[in-house]
Amino acid sequence: MPGIKFFVNLSVKNQELNTEFKTAINETGVFKVISQEEKQEPDLLICELGENYEEELNNLQLFLDKADTTEIFLVSKRSDPEILIQALRIGIKEFFPVPLKPELIKDALNRFKKRYEKLQHTTSGSSGKIYSILGSKGGVGTTTVAVNLAVSIAVNQENPSVALLDMNIIFGDVPILLDISPKHNWGDITQNIERLDEFFLANILTEHATGVHVLPSPRYLNNHPSPTPTIMETLLDLMKNKYDYIIIDLGQSMNETALRIVQMSDLVHVIAIQSLPCLSNTNRLVNSIVEYGYIDKENVKIVLNRYLKKGMVSLSSAEEGVGKKLSWVIPNDYSTTMSAINSGKPLYQVAQKSRIVKSFNDYVEKLLGVENIKRKKMWFF
Ligand SMILES: Nc1ncnc2c1ncn2[C@@H]1O[C@H](COP(=O)(O)OP(=O)(O)OP(=O)(O)O)[C@@H](O)[C@H]1O
Ligand SMILES: [Mg+2]
Repeated sequence: MPGIKFFVNLSVKNQELNTEFKTAINETGVFKVISQEEKQEPDLLICELGENYEEELNNLQLFLDKADTTEIFLVSKRSDPEILIQALRIGIKEFFPVPLKPELIKDALNRFKKRYEKLQHTTSGSSGKIYSILGSKGGVGTTTVAVNLAVSIAVNQENPSVALLDMNIIFGDVPILLDISPKHNWGDITQNIERLDEFFLANILTEHATGVHVLPSPRYLNNHPSPTPTIMETLLDLMKNKYDYIIIDLGQSMNETALRIVQMSDLVHVIAIQSLPCLSNTNRLVNSIVEYGYIDKENVKIVLNRYLKKGMVSLSSAEEGVGKKLSWVIPNDYSTTMSAINSGKPLYQVAQKSRIVKSFNDYVEKLLGVENIKRKKMWFF
C-alpha cells in the first residue's frame, strides 16, 4: 500500500465514535487505523477521555514524555475549559468535541501531516549530493560505473544513504546488474506525481543488500506520463532530502529532462573509452553542456573506462582529445565485469581485491574525503 504513510492507534471505546473516526481516517488513503495486535508503531494516538480525566491526562503526559514522535488527539463528551487547558498544557495537539464532525477530523489529520513534513524538512535538510553518470557513446560502461559507484559509496559508509536512479527507458539494466526485481519504477512516480512525498518515495525504491536504494526505469512504455524536467526536479529535490548520495545513470540521453538533471547535479561524470572518436565525442559533449551553462566545467569529471596500458591512446593523448584532465581512470577488467554481470552482483561482491574494485574505492575516497570513509564489514556474501 504505497499510499499509506501514517498509522493511527484508535483508543476510543465508544463504538459509535470509534466507527466515525475509523471511516474518516481510512477515507484519507494516507492514514490507516491499526489494531492493538499489529506490531506497527503508531504515528498518532487518538484517545477518548473518560470520567477520570485528571488521571487519564497525567498518564497521557507520561506517555508523551517517553514517545518523542507520537502525537495525541483527544475526543471527549466534556469540553469544559479546565480540561481543554490541561490538555493543551501537556501537549495534546487536537481536541474533538462530541458530536464529531468528519471534516474536522480530516482537517486535523491534514495539519498533522503538514507538521510532520515540516519536521522532516528541517531535520534532514536538503543536502544530498547528485552524481550523474553520462555516456559519451553507447556501451562505454555508463551503467557499470553508475551501479558500482553507488555500491562503492554504500559499502564505504557505516550507515549508507545512497540511491541509484536509472534513466534509461526500457533499456535500463540496473536491476539485472544487481539481480533485483523491483516492484516499482519511476513510471509509478510520473503517474502519481501529486502523491509524491518522502513516504511514497520510500515505498517505491528497492533496497539492495549493499544498502543502495534503487529506482529503476520502466521496462515498458505502459502509457505512463514521461518524466518532464519539472517532475524530475520535484523527484530529485525530494531525494536530496532523503538520501546523502544520489547516483543517476543518464545513459546517453541529452533531452530536456536529462539536461535538467545535469543542471541539478553536483558532479557529472562523463564516461569515455580509449578511442579517438569517443574522446572527440566526449570533448563536444562536455563543451556543449558547459557552454550552454548547464554545469560549470570544474564539476564535469572525465572518466576513462576500460583503460589498457598498451591501448592505442595514451593518457596524455586522451586528455588532449577531451580538452580536460582525466579525473578517474578505470582499468579494463573483462573477466571481473563479465562475472559480475553473469552473477547479478556488483564488482565488489565478485572480486573485492581486484584492481577495478580498488579503483572504485580509491575514487570514492577522493570524492567523499578520507574522513568520511568507514569501510563496514560486508556480511551479505
Ligand atoms: N572496466 C571495464 N572493463 C571491462 N569491461 C567493462 C568495463 N566496464 C564495462 N565493461 C563491459 O562493457 C559492457 C558495456 O557496459 P555497460 O552496460 O555498463 O555500458 P553502457 O555504456 O551502460 O551501455 P548501454 O549504452 O548499452 O547502456 C559490459 O559488457 C561491461 O561488462
Ligand atoms: Mg547502460
